[in-house]
Amino acid sequence: MGADVLAVRCRNVVKIYGTGGQKVTALGGIDLDIATGELMMLVGPSGCGKTTLISVIAGILDQDEGSCEVFGKDLAAMSDQEKLKFRASHIGFVFQAFNLLPSLTVAENVSVPLLINGVRRAEAERRAEHILEQVGLGDRTTFLPSQLSGGQQQRVAIARALIHDPGLIVCDEPTSALDHETGQTVMQLLKRTVLQKNRALVIVTHDARIFDFADRTAEMDDGRILRIEKSSVTN
Ligand SMILES: Nc1ncnc2c1ncn2[C@@H]1O[C@H](COP(=O)(O)OP(=O)(O)O)[C@@H](O)[C@H]1O
Ligand SMILES: [Mg+2]
Repeated sequence: MGADVLAVRCRNVVKIYGTGGQKVTALGGIDLDIATGELMMLVGPSGCGKTTLISVIAGILDQDEGSCEVFGKDLAAMSDQEKLKFRASHIGFVFQAFNLLPSLTVAENVSVPLLINGVRRAEAERRAEHILEQVGLGDRTTFLPSQLSGGQQQRVAIARALIHDPGLIVCDEPTSALDHETGQTVMQLLKRTVLQKNRALVIVTHDARIFDFADRTAEMDDGRILRIEKSSVTN
C-alpha cells in the first residue's frame, strides 16, 4: 500500500434499497476521499445514510452506481472470496449492534480476525488479551458477551476491529454505550492508532463529546454529503 494511495476514494456512490414503490435512495451520489493518518467523522440525522455509506466503504454492501476504492482496490469488482480476504487483512469494522458471537468468550471473539488470517490460536489469544487490557477489559477475557454490560460489549467490538492492525478502521457509533471517561479512553486509543500507525479511521457518531477528535467532519443529510469541515482543534 503506497503512501500516496488514498485509504478511501468514493465517487458518485448511489445505493437504493427496495424496488418499485418501496424504493429508498439511501445514498444519492457520494464523493468522499479519506487519507491515511486521518480521522474522519460522519454526522447527520438518523436515516440519512451513514450506516449505508460505511457499509459500502467496508465492502459489506455493494453500491448500485459509482465506485468505492479502498487502498486503490475496487471492492465491488472482487469475488466474494477475494473481498473476504481483503477485508480480513485491511479493514476493521465496529458494528452499531456490536455483532459479537454469543457462544465465544471475549478473548475468542477478539481473536477471530487473527484466526482468519492464519495466526495460531495461542498467539491470537495472547494478542487478544493484550488489546483487551488496553480497552480496560483485561479481567473479562473468559466471560461470554451475555455476561457483559453494553459498554463492555462495545469495547470488545472495538478491540476486535483493531487486533489485526487493519489500515482502515470503520466504526458505527463506537461510544454510544460508553460513559464519558471510557469513551475518551477508547477515542484516545483509536486516535493513537491513527497517528502512530498512519491508519485511516471513519467514525459515525452523534456523540458531541468526541467531535474534537476528528481531523475532518462530513455532514450528511438525505443520502448526500452537505459539507466537509476541517477541525479547528489541533489534536
Ligand atoms: N436494509 C434496508 N432496507 C430498506 N431500507 C433501508 C435498509 N437499510 C437502511 N434503509 C433505509 O435507508 C436510509 C438510510 O439508512 P441508514 O444508512 O441506516 O441511515 P443512518 O445510519 O444514517 O441512520 C433510511 O431511510 C433507512 O430507512
Ligand atoms: Mg446508522
